[in-house]
Amino acid sequence: MRFSSFAVESGGVAAAGGQGSEVRVWGESDVLVVSAPLPGVLRVRLLPEARANSLGFPRAPVKQSFAVRPDLPAGLTLNAADLEDELLVIGAGLSFRLDRVSGAWQVLTGSGSSARVLVSAPVWGGEAPTQRPALDAERFNLRRSRLSLDAPEGAAFLGFGERVGPIDKRGMHLTFWNTDCFPHHTETDPLYVSVPFTTVLHEGRAHGVFVDEPWRMEADVARAHPHELRWASAGPELDVYVLSGPRPADVLRRYADLTGYAPMPPLWALGAGQSRWGYRTAQDLRDVIQGYRDRNLPLDSVYVDIDYMDAYKVWTVQRANFPDLRAFVREAGAQGVKLVPIIDPGVKVEAGYDVYEEAVRGDHLVRTARGDVLVGEVWPDPAVFPDFTRPEVVNWWAGRHKFFADAGIQGQWNDMNEPACFSLREPRETEGKTLPYDARHGNRPHLEVHNAYANGMSEASRAGYAKFSPQVRPWILTRAGYAGIQRHATVWTGDNTATWSHLSLSLPMIQGLGLSGIPFAGADVGGFGGDTTGELLARWYQAAVGYAFLRNHSALGTADQEPWRFGDTFTDVIRAALNLRYRLLPHLYTLAQAATRTALPVMRPLALHWPADEDAVREDTQYLLGEGLMVAPVLRAGHRRRLVYLPAGRWAEVFNLSEFGAVHAGGQHVVANAPLHTLPMYLRAGEAVPVTEAALHTTSARWERLSWLVHAGRDGFIGQLFEDAGDGPAGGRLTRLVGERQGTRLVIRREAEGDAPAFEQREALHILGLSHVREVQGAASFAYEDGVLRLTLPARWQTVTLNLDEEDDDTVPTDALPID
Ligand code: GLC
Repeated sequence: MRFSSFAVESGGVAAAGGQGSEVRVWGESDVLVVSAPLPGVLRVRLLPEARANSLGFPRAPVKQSFAVRPDLPAGLTLNAADLEDELLVIGAGLSFRLDRVSGAWQVLTGSGSSARVLVSAPVWGGEAPTQRPALDAERFNLRRSRLSLDAPEGAAFLGFGERVGPIDKRGMHLTFWNTDCFPHHTETDPLYVSVPFTTVLHEGRAHGVFVDEPWRMEADVARAHPHELRWASAGPELDVYVLSGPRPADVLRRYADLTGYAPMPPLWALGAGQSRWGYRTAQDLRDVIQGYRDRNLPLDSVYVDIDYMDAYKVWTVQRANFPDLRAFVREAGAQGVKLVPIIDPGVKVEAGYDVYEEAVRGDHLVRTARGDVLVGEVWPDPAVFPDFTRPEVVNWWAGRHKFFADAGIQGQWNDMNEPACFSLREPRETEGKTLPYDARHGNRPHLEVHNAYANGMSEASRAGYAKFSPQVRPWILTRAGYAGIQRHATVWTGDNTATWSHLSLSLPMIQGLGLSGIPFAGADVGGFGGDTTGELLARWYQAAVGYAFLRNHSALGTADQEPWRFGDTFTDVIRAALNLRYRLLPHLYTLAQAATRTALPVMRPLALHWPADEDAVREDTQYLLGEGLMVAPVLRAGHRRRLVYLPAGRWAEVFNLSEFGAVHAGGQHVVANAPLHTLPMYLRAGEAVPVTEAALHTTSARWERLSWLVHAGRDGFIGQLFEDAGDGPAGGRLTRLVGERQGTRLVIRREAEGDAPAFEQREALHILGLSHVREVQGAASFAYEDGVLRLTLPARWQTVTLNLDEEDDDTVPTDALPID
């Protein structure tokens, strides 16, 4: 019998059965611990080696998780029953069944005949030390602990962090080892962000599996073994969380309950950004801002890359190029533009350089296996690395942010934090350009904490700005991350290239990050490496209208790619795309606020809302903004139309967010006409989306002019709007716009909750799908234009009632556009 004993523990007291907060099961070598941290979440810690160290009652070692939020409440109560060869544990709305003879276990939801197996783990344990994989070095068994879960036929596996390839990762072998890889391709794995969390979709129902191990890991997603999801870790245990659904949105919410929700970004961070590795001086940035303003292009932020530093020394500024940083921040601010500087972890080794000296004095640095300070090369050479896996180092680094906060800076770009290291003074075994497996972080090897390095760095940045600029919302951008990174930063997808394939790739990558609990993400618009073209840049801006983070960025030595570099035609198309973005800000800001409560990402994969629709689940060339606004950008050179998949419902074409076109029945592909200046979008019946007017930069999220685009459905419609000052402390007003059909009347109500100082808002409704309105009560004016009912509303309106001539006929043309 693999498991001979078990005990239920409650408040440190163990008993051989009954109720408690933790069930521990053990045999000759293996230990397994079950707990229920949250409703719908069971945690199963698998410790194949734990018994070896204790003769008596085995304790699981205390674990410090980098992912689980530090303020997690105490766990829920479990009931355990010993059923001869089987152990049954019930709690958190789930049950856990262990076969004591084989060690196989399952997590189920429901009970009796409605019970459903979520996860079935027939095989797990420690790898025999002789069976070493190819990458293994003498001393490193990279597949030390392993777990095999059943992967049912037809199930889709979403998430897993930042990955190339299609949105369903079935058939891929994935490595969890944050890697700076330039250039990456459509087959490259791993990249910069490792999140060992997947949402499994099977027969329209979802559950989640999160393996909280920062150690180097691998997942074979039904590739080598078509019916298994195999996990392997270089660490001594596997810490598995099973999250119940049944909807993918439930899984995401539970994952965020466990690992934390993203904080609310300031509004300006949703505006457009311009960056380039190569802007060297304050004058360069001044010219960029002027370039935008001269051409009436919206801009909210400019980024400064490593060139602003003195000899790549972090927390310094090259005075010749930026004579007065604070004055420049103020000057840019007067034009509505924020300055976002880059910071890398590598600290230059230089006697007398205060950051280096402090780091040495405070023992803040990563060490070699021998115990010396580890020295490598990044932009500064030689460079040393703060150990962001230790709280005291995070604290020290946070204090450094005073330097920027005092200059009026509110956002920061954390780069190279895998950490990237081009070479080592003393070469040792490692993987990719980073620190050696056996480097020391306190008493932990790099192999154990590598993936979590960036979390500590970004936590420090957020804490730093929160401390030194408490009046504004900190905003941090990061390249690398581990599960939980969403609590600290927005992620961008690193060094892509100026190719059509990378434009396409950006959509499943950002959506995959969203499915990994990271709702705020974006890719370098125009492409980082290589020279872009006018058409590619224009199509990229269109695709990026719904990126949560929108920034044009390119590498040193590539062709200039500011929006005006390719002639007026393309500048006009890009301006139109940027204007669309700014007009959509009320909706995007509302989605951002929803992300902070629900973990639903800003750019949503169709799979989130249509998990039972096979075509929707694997569609990753389009995305949703909310439940009802579909965006289908053109992703191919020279193409002027594309196929669009519309899930169930009725969908109206929306041109330029101002005109409605044909209405299509869902559940089919339609052809969208998309000449260069057009970004195909569709609004589903039953949905209302708030938009405003275009502006050159953001100011406040209390929209002075607001319009709702409404596609009335059979029963009415619903929309949401979040408003606040756009920065500063949390709190604001959440308004629901509800249109309800009551016989031959449609009553439209505005329901607000929360507080926001009263302000005069000019509002209009543009409603499609109501063609027989006879009379309107409560509006300042109403008119029909091209079949769209346009209502202007008085200040602080509450209710509008539409009297319809007859039951509105909702049979609408459903034909796809003719292929001309
Ligand atoms: C890295 C970053 C890139 C940046 C460059 C120089 O490659 O990913 O965005 O421009 O370093 O700092």
